[in-house]
Parts: sequence; structure tokens; C-alpha cells
Amino acid sequence: MNRMDFEFYESEDPIWNPSLLTIPVPGIRRMVNMAAEMDDVIHLSIGQPDLPTPGHITRSVCDSLEAGQTGYTMDAGLPELLDALAEYYGERYGRELSPDNILVTTGATEAIYLALTATSAPDREFIVPDPAFQLYAPLIRMNGGTVHHIPTHAENNHQLDPQEVIDAIGPNTFAIVLNSPSNPTGTVYPRETIEAIVEEAAFRGVEIISDEVYDHLVFDDQPYTSVLSAACDLDNIMVVSSFSKTFSMAGLRVGWMIASQAAIKKLRRYHMFTTTVANTPCQWGGVAALKGDRSFVADMIDEYTKRRDLLVELIDKTPHLTGYRPDGAFYIFPALPEGISGSNVALRLLRETGVCTIPGDTFGESSDNALRISYSLPREQIQEAFDRIIPWMERQDFS
Ligand SMILES: Cc1ncc(COP(=O)(O)O)c(C=O)c1O
Repeated sequence: MNRMDFEFYESEDPIWNPSLLTIPVPGIRRMVNMAAEMDDVIHLSIGQPDLPTPGHITRSVCDSLEAGQTGYTMDAGLPELLDALAEYYGERYGRELSPDNILVTTGATEAIYLALTATSAPDREFIVPDPAFQLYAPLIRMNGGTVHHIPTHAENNHQLDPQEVIDAIGPNTFAIVLNSPSNPTGTVYPRETIEAIVEEAAFRGVEIISDEVYDHLVFDDQPYTSVLSAACDLDNIMVVSSFSKTFSMAGLRVGWMIASQAAIKKLRRYHMFTTTVANTPCQWGGVAALKGDRSFVADMIDEYTKRRDLLVELIDKTPHLTGYRPDGAFYIFPALPEGISGSNVALRLLRETGVCTIPGDTFGESSDNALRISYSLPREQIQEAFDRIIPWMERQDFS
């Protein structure tokens, strides 16, 4: 256990289980709470789609409510949704699944919680890219596991070097956590990266936990490689996803986990003791999302691509920010000069310009000098945010 991990378990408060100390004060909440007290704030901080949920999905949720679908479903999920997911994954990734390979959860968040807390234990190490989605490391540490970070950098489009991951595998490595496209970097890992990591992990008996909630949000017709299409079997993989991002259904809270039948059987029981089942009418909404017209997704990708292009251009014009071209999701994670605190810059940007960004240290330990910028807002507002940021940055002397 390194010093950092050890410190997480020291508790001065006798009431709470010390494992709760692994949960940091969320950087996102801190900024958003402060912004709530201010007028005229532009939020480059939002982690959910701004586009409306397609009408056929909301109608299906309402119809199922009116039809009395208000009880519990089966613990693994609504059978119609399990079937629809199996069919959808077969078509999309060529991976034949049976409903027994799937567990429907309360958003991808519950699936991540189940995967990490059911496997993390003392003397088990999890390899996690840094920066990464803020849930992974605390959930691993909560149950005594340790985190081995692999830093990625803006100069390199935040790509993960597969050899670095492979070299980091040691006797205590239990799992590798992947998230492509990534929150907070927008980076999409190419097939070679996914294949190299998945193959080595299978050979060494290491689990892969892959968070693929942004799997549809990939730009410029680039191919997307899911762990599901790179692995020979499901023996050591758990893939997590949800309707939140692809179908603008974040508040409806339906996600899932795909894994071997043995793993799903085990996690079904844990799920029963966690949330019991996911929301029933919203699971019907999920069936409508998978079976209905999906042209909405192409329109959404088109809009996000335009926003990404605008943002890349604006960051390029901004003094002191090093950008890159993210290929997916709706985030970019530009770097400030080395040694400059992203937290200070984000706070001052909010107070002095009314633009809310998220400090890099929310997402890891090697990203203090970064900001997460989300482009889940109309292009006019992105432009207006940078009309404020650029002159502010011009006035700073970060030398
Ligand atoms: C990488 C990543 N995984 C999981 C989630 C949570 O998704 P859900 O709304 O399905 O719980 C998010 C939400 O921001 C995310 O960015």
C-alpha cells in the first residue's frame, strides 16, 4: 500500500466507517455549488447530454407507467430489455450474448460500483489511467484495494501506451480499468491498444473492467473498439454501459453490466442487496431506445463533432492552454503550464469571468495543471465562454 492509499484509511471521525474517507469532496460539486450563487455563469462543467430525450422513449416510459408497470422486475432486469440488449450487442460488436450474460443496473454507476467493490480487497492492485472518471479510485480504495495509476498527457492526445500498462502488471495486479471514449479526456483507444491490453490480461489472468458509456460518441467515422469485440471470451471481462449518454437518458438511471454467466450470477445477488432492481418504467424506455428509430444518435454525433471542432480551434487560440483533438465523448482536458494549479485557475476563471470548468485534480493525481471542459452546450455558448476566457488568459503571467 503506498502512502497515498494509506492516508485514505486514517479516520479521526468515530461515527463513520473509515472507508468513507476514500470518497473525496467532489471537485465538480464544489465548483457547481459556487456557480449556483452567481449570475450569468456559462457551464463548461456539465457531464450529461444537453439534447432532449427522443419522444418515442419518453412516451414509452409514460405508457408503461399508465399500463401499471410499477412493480419490481426480475432481479437481472426486465426480460424484454435483456433480450433487446443481447440482440443489440450481437449486431453492434459481433459478440453473441445470452440474457444470462447481462445484469441491468441503476445507471452505469451501479454497475461500476458492483464491479469494483465486489472485487477490490487488500493486496489487490487495480491499474487505472490517470486522469480517469472520478468514481474508480475511491471505490477501489474503499474495500482496501490499491490503485496503480498510468499517467496520460495532452501532448499525446491522452492516449494510453499499452506497453506501459503491460509493464505495470505485477503479482498483485487484479484488474485493469479502461474507459474509451474517456471522461475526462475524450480519448478513444485504437484497436491495437485494446487488443494488446486484453490479450495480455487474458494471458496473465487479470480482469478487464471496461466502462463504455460513451461508445456511440465517436467522431469522424472512426472505428470504435469495444473490449467485447477484442476479447476471445467473457471469462475475465466486465463491460459496463448505460442509456445515459447515447440516448440522453441520464436521469432515467438505467445501465448494465456484461460479463460471463458465472460473474453475472454472483453480481445478481450483490445487486439484490444494493438496489434490488432498476426502475421498471425506465427499463421499458430502454427497450424503446434499442428497438426504435436511432437516427437521433447520428444527429447527436454530428452536433458534438461541430462543437468539438469549434472548441479545438478556440483552445488553440487561448494563451497558456495546450489542447489536442479528442475523438469522442464530450470533454477535452487541456493542460496549463507545468506547475500551475488547475484548481486556482478554475476558481479564478469562475469568479472573474463567470465560466465554470472543472479542475484537473478531480480526475487523478497527475493532472493538477489541467481543466476539464465539457461541450455539452450550444456552440454559441461555447464561443461566448471563450470570448471571456481568452482575454482573461492573455492577462495572466504564469511564468
Ligand atoms: C465514464 C463514465 N462512466 C459512468 C458514468 C455514469 O453513468 P450513468 O449515468 O449511467 O450512471 C459517467 C457519467 O458521467 C461517466 O462519465
